[in-house]
Amino acid sequence: MKIIVFALIALLTFSNCAEKNMSFTQSEIAILPKPANLNLQEGSFAILKNQLILANLEEQEKAAKALEIYINETANYTATIVDSNTATIRFEKKEDLETEAYELIVTPKNIRILANDAAGYFYGVQTIKQLMSLETSDDSKKSIYLIPSITIKDSPRFRWRAFMLDESRYFHGEKFVKQMLDQMALLKMNTFHWHLIDDAGWRVEIKKYPLLTEVGAFRSDSEIGTWKSGKTSGKPHGGFYTQEQIKDIVAYAAKRNIKIVPEFEMPGHSSAAIAAYTWLGTAGVDIEVPIKFGRLYDNYDVTKPEVITFIKDVLNELFELFPSEVIHIGGDEVGYEVWEKSASVQKYMKENNISTPADLQINFTNKISKYLEENNRRMMGWNEILGKNIHKDFGEKKNDKEAETTLAKNVIVHFWKGDLELLTDAAKNGYAIVNSLLSETYLDYNHKNITLERAYSFNPIPEGLDAKYHKNIYGLGCQMWSEWTPTNADVERQTFPRIAAYAEVGWTTPENKEYKSFKIALKKMQKHWDKLGINYFKDSDKIEAELKSKQNNLNN
Ligand code: ACM
Repeated sequence: MKIIVFALIALLTFSNCAEKNMSFTQSEIAILPKPANLNLQEGSFAILKNQLILANLEEQEKAAKALEIYINETANYTATIVDSNTATIRFEKKEDLETEAYELIVTPKNIRILANDAAGYFYGVQTIKQLMSLETSDDSKKSIYLIPSITIKDSPRFRWRAFMLDESRYFHGEKFVKQMLDQMALLKMNTFHWHLIDDAGWRVEIKKYPLLTEVGAFRSDSEIGTWKSGKTSGKPHGGFYTQEQIKDIVAYAAKRNIKIVPEFEMPGHSSAAIAAYTWLGTAGVDIEVPIKFGRLYDNYDVTKPEVITFIKDVLNELFELFPSEVIHIGGDEVGYEVWEKSASVQKYMKENNISTPADLQINFTNKISKYLEENNRRMMGWNEILGKNIHKDFGEKKNDKEAETTLAKNVIVHFWKGDLELLTDAAKNGYAIVNSLLSETYLDYNHKNITLERAYSFNPIPEGLDAKYHKNIYGLGCQMWSEWTPTNADVERQTFPRIAAYAEVGWTTPENKEYKSFKIALKKMQKHWDKLGINYFKDSDKIEAELKSKQNNLNN
């Protein structure tokens, strides 16, 4: 039992009045991500066995339902949604609140959740979940569910708070994804970036091209350990989502205020598709779904009309599955050699006055962007789509020409590699940016390279970025690339607890962030993960102590 200040425990007859004097201390209030404004008062609200919840607007339904289910499942009570003022938990409209913002006012008499949209109400409920606790009074031995008297005014710093799961390298499955969505919702993260299509596997059923999954979703073996290890598992791997499963997961996410942004990699990272349909490639060579990870040779031949038709056909099916306005087209790490060696690609470039492969990529990307816009969608892509060579450090030819073609406007640039100059340039040119800088946000990096504290310290608005461009930074993503994490337990160990740090980066203003209080809130969250059997990394403190001690030794 937690330490509670029992100001008065008398003989209790009916709970709500009697519990009003059970108070909580500030240190027991551990909400993650940390709210913008919080004021703790004396007393608490006790949930009734037959708790009534007032919700009479459509936009309140999702949140009210989530609260009703939570109370009923956690406490085994019978909470009911009603349209009656006698209800002591009330959802109320407050029109001057921004999207996703909410206010929570708890007194011993009632709870009010105020918001101006479905997301705001939903986040009010996520905060209630973190505040509600089962307490047993020492005297009466009665167990009751309490919520401290409190006033919270809260809203997010960024509109884009994403977690990316790479399911191409390893397929993790519906149950795992739903669990991730549950944890994201509790952490008030609103974007699930689903990396479904890459070299190592095509994971979404496309009715018009059945071989994409019949062939492209399965590989005969997998390299294990690390890059170029030469070792393999010796086991086949595969799996994909049917369209029905995708629809179900998208609906599951929507109930949790999470939009799913699918990623369909193009024109590189396309081996799984080329394994299914050789004519999609440039090399004209039959391949199998690769068992090795990393950058591969072939790309879609973007100069062939039938390849463009294929991409549009796949997009048409994705439009039906994913209501998200934003569609991610990858665009990273395209090796240009195969285009340089192709006589027909070279001929096309000459005829169309395209001087470099980087220009060809932008020319193609712009075509796809136009198609997305015609279908009321908006393109997002890794920052290579701007046409700058960001891979010089990786042995890319130093004299590789950069593109002169301009990327279409209204594109979201997903910044993962490059310097402040590159990011500033993108912002200056009017692009929206999601900051996923690899050295700060890649969950596949080990816990020594990106410690919990380092993850927590990430600022999506880099120091030195002119204030007039801050509005271009939509937020951040944290990315779980899964080349070397075949099991769900591996993915959990890499993702948790750092995902909680990124959730707070996305939600809480820098002035209000404090690592110490985050760690206190995290302890409570870890208990929740323990209950669910989530395999979070347990040695963050140890690693940070070791690094500090090393630093001290260096300084002395
Ligand atoms: C990436 O990490 N290739 C976006």
